[in-house]
Formats: sequence, C-alpha cells, structure tokens
Amino acid sequence: MITGATTYLPVDLTGLRVAITGAAGGIGRVMADSFAACGANVFISDIDAASLATSGHPGMVANAGSAAEMENFVDTAVRELTGLDVLINNAGIAGPTKKVEDVTPEELDATLQIDLAAMFHTARRAIPALRASGGGSIINLSSAAGRFGFQLRSPYAAAKWGVIGFTKTLAIELGPQGIRVNAILPGLVDGPRIRAVIKAKAEAAGVGENAQTTRAVETTSLRCFVTQHDIANMALYLCSPFGATISGQSLAVDGDLQVLI
Ligand SMILES: NC(=O)c1ccc[n+]([C@@H]2O[C@H](COP(=O)([O-])OP(=O)(O)OC[C@H]3O[C@@H](n4cnc5c(N)ncnc54)[C@H](O)[C@@H]3O)[C@@H](O)[C@H]2O)c1
Repeated sequence: MITGATTYLPVDLTGLRVAITGAAGGIGRVMADSFAACGANVFISDIDAASLATSGHPGMVANAGSAAEMENFVDTAVRELTGLDVLINNAGIAGPTKKVEDVTPEELDATLQIDLAAMFHTARRAIPALRASGGGSIINLSSAAGRFGFQLRSPYAAAKWGVIGFTKTLAIELGPQGIRVNAILPGLVDGPRIRAVIKAKAEAAGVGENAQTTRAVETTSLRCFVTQHDIANMALYLCSPFGATISGQSLAVDGDLQVLI
C-alpha cells in the first residue's frame, strides 16, 4: 500500500515571510512547522488561543468568521514579518451534515463566511504587501469537495467549489503583477478526524472498522489516504523556486479520489 510523506520537502525558503490562517492545529500546523523548518518566517492565526500558545509560532487569535479580524490578522502579519511573500488561507470548518432542506440560514452563513469569504478578506488586505514584495503567492485550501458533489455537506461543498472560482479569477487578475494564486484540494487526510468518521460509519453500517477503512481507501485509484505532510509539501513546492510558473491551478492531493462517500 502506498503511504504518504512523513516529513517536509527540504526546500530552501530562507527568509520567506508567510502568513497562515487556522494554523495552530491540523494541516495548517504542519504547514507552519514545515515552512519554519525550511527557513521561512511564519505568522499564524487561529481561533483556539490555547493551541496557538503551544504551537511555538508567533501569531494571534483571529476568527475567520469575522472580516475585521481577518483584515487585522493580515495587517499584523505584514507588520510583524516586515512585509509578506505568501498568504495561505487554510482555516476551515466542516459545516453542518444535513440535507439541504434542513440547513439553517445561520449554518449556511457561518460555513460560507469561514470557508470562503475569509479568503476574500485576507487576500484583499494582503495584495498590496504581496505586490510590494515583488511577486508573491496565495494558496487557498479547497477540498475534494471542491471537485465532487458531497452528499449532506452542501454548505461545505458550495464553499469549496467557490474557492476554486475565487482562485482562478484572482490568478488572472494578479498574474500580470507576478503574484501567483493556487488552490490545494486535500482528499482523505489520515488522522484522528478521519478515523472517527470511519468508526462512526462502520457502526452505522454494522461492519468492522477495517472493512470500513478498506471501503474508504477504495474510493481512490491509489488505494491510499494522504498525510498532512503531503498537503504541506505541495504548499512548500508551490512557494519554492520550482513552483515559479504555476498559477491558477486546482491541485488535488488525494491519491486520485474518484468519489466522495
Ligand atoms: N483534514 C481533511 O481531511 C481535509 C480534507 C479536505 C480539505 N481540508 C481543508 O484543509 C483545511 C485545514 O483542515 P484541517 O483538517 O487541518 O482543519 P482542523 O479542523 O484540524 O482545523 C485547523 C485549525 O483551524 C482552526 N479554526 C477552526 N475554526 C476557525 C476559525 N473560525 N477561525 C480561525 N481558525 C479556526 C482550528 O482551531 C484548528 O487549529 C480546511 O480548510 C479544510 O476544509 C481538510
């Protein structure tokens, strides 16, 4: 069975100034650790003050659901890093798991704000600083739910498809200024969250956890999960000199996922 990366791609990013949202935990945290390990200076945001404090990275509490807090985060990052080369819009929530007819306006709003609108607010504020750096890069976290329908997760899927439209449009607008914009679409990322989902689905279906795990990986051509490092490594590559001509792309890192179940 194919296994994903367990460490960071060793590229030299010495002095690169990188702001990452929602990076006190999960994929964002692995990104922050990886960029720092490659020599970058990172400044992160998160809604969780305790995780932020133990992350070891400079940063601030900022809720991706608030336009003002996102703008303030970018302004603070630019000040603390004395400029900005990379913005990574990583913060995201799952949103409700319900049929469309049962989703409340409040649930829809919250999901669209955090998973999509926040990226507008940070990008809008970061563009002058990226331009001043002489060409920078924006990376937006979409999802496999940004290229497939996802039953019972309509607000999330709508937001993540929206991220693709935003990314492609912004890439066209900023390309002539040398600023690149790409989306990364993680698939089934191994970790406690997916294990909990598999356990719950196994119980609901009356099958064992191993059978349910097999069912999950069989949705990918490579019959594998991906790792948080696989996602972070795509971001490192995009921000390294090797990614200099890549923009406007939707980059799936998912073992060639064929369907979301
Ligand atoms: N993990 C996966 O399987 C997967 C798959 C596809 C896409 N993604 C996307 O990748 C990104 C990161 O996912 P993850 O699994 O690491 O997420 P996660 O649930 O582990 O959360 C990552 C961090 O975001 C923070 N956060 C949550 N709500 C926030 C808010 N309103 N404002 C600021 N920070 C907030 C959390 O405190 C946490 O530290 C998300 O955009 C997610 O949609 C993840």
